[in-house]
Amino acid sequence: MYLTAEEEKILDGEQGETLQKSMEILVAIGKIFDADRLIPIKSAQVSGVSYQNIGDSGIEWFENLKGKVRVPSLINPAGMDLDKWKEMGIESEFARKQLKIISVFRRLGFRIECTCTPYYILTPEKGDHIAWAESSAVIYANAVIGAMTNREGGPSALAAAMVGKTPRFGMHIKEKRAPHIRVEVNRKLKDHEFPKVGYWMGKEIENKIPLINFKGKVTDINLRDFGAALASTGGQPIFHVEGVTPEWKDFHLPEESIYVEDFDVESGCSEADLVAIGCPHLSGKELRKIAQMVSQPLKKDMWIFTSRFIKNKNMDAVAKLEKMGAKVFTDTCMVVSPATRNYRCIMVNSGKAFCYLPKLASTEVIFKPLKECIQEALGNED
Ligand code: F3S
Repeated sequence: MYLTAEEEKILDGEQGETLQKSMEILVAIGKIFDADRLIPIKSAQVSGVSYQNIGDSGIEWFENLKGKVRVPSLINPAGMDLDKWKEMGIESEFARKQLKIISVFRRLGFRIECTCTPYYILTPEKGDHIAWAESSAVIYANAVIGAMTNREGGPSALAAAMVGKTPRFGMHIKEKRAPHIRVEVNRKLKDHEFPKVGYWMGKEIENKIPLINFKGKVTDINLRDFGAALASTGGQPIFHVEGVTPEWKDFHLPEESIYVEDFDVESGCSEADLVAIGCPHLSGKELRKIAQMVSQPLKKDMWIFTSRFIKNKNMDAVAKLEKMGAKVFTDTCMVVSPATRNYRCIMVNSGKAFCYLPKLASTEVIFKPLKECIQEALGNED
């Protein structure tokens, strides 16, 4: 892999140990994936920031990092709401350690927005090279925006943030973004069916990049929820939608094709003790819509997740939801926080949460449309 004189100097340790280690990570990954060189990035987003992932040995390693990020950088959800952790039932020892991790990110120059929807805050442009780690954000950035990012791991995204560059391979190369399979969906989908189809499709086509023909109008939220689910079960960093996404016309049509008729998912339990909304983190429009739908005091626990940035811009909606008994949490989510382990059966409207809650939180899960999730929390029969 070609390195400039400046990059060689960093690798030789002339600019300190943190940059040297970061460069070593980037070069090692570049060699594995046959990258020809490093390219500058516009932003970075780092995952795996929960104390649950990092542990005590990770904290020690983090505390030794020095310097500042070279591009605007955010982090993924942590293990708790950084202010309201007590309300989530998080223990003080966990909170102390999580806050220590966050303070290192702050010192390194990260903007403390712990969110999986960084595109609502640092929106890239088509063709921008970025280094993001959260799978649902990666697939959204590539597919819906047309920005270019591999699905980074936590350490490689951190290294990219510190150096301001990433190895050029995979999604940074136009032809690697080409679809492998054409998928025809047989009818117009309702909003809540997009995450279901994504969940089903990822299992069906595994990691092939699909070019999908959805019937009717498709919104950015539909694509976000579809992509988050697809990336969970299939691992794709990108998809294309005919007539919708920015690069769908740029490639030859794939020869292989499938037709989707039946994509139902089976819930693992029937009686929810928590309703959890906001996977991926809600947009402002969704938060306001949910506040309108919650018109009376809730009878069941309902946790809503969004970013601090979106919450702060929508305090009227948040106040109404909290008055009705909902908890609006930021900086974390139902999957990465240990707090949801206190529940047995969680109702979600997200294909990604449906995929990961049983695996990572050992809770049972029910998938329902948003409207039914809210009715459940309100205690209404239908
Ligand atoms: Fe975001 Fe957590 Fe879902 S990180 S995409 S809310 S699993």
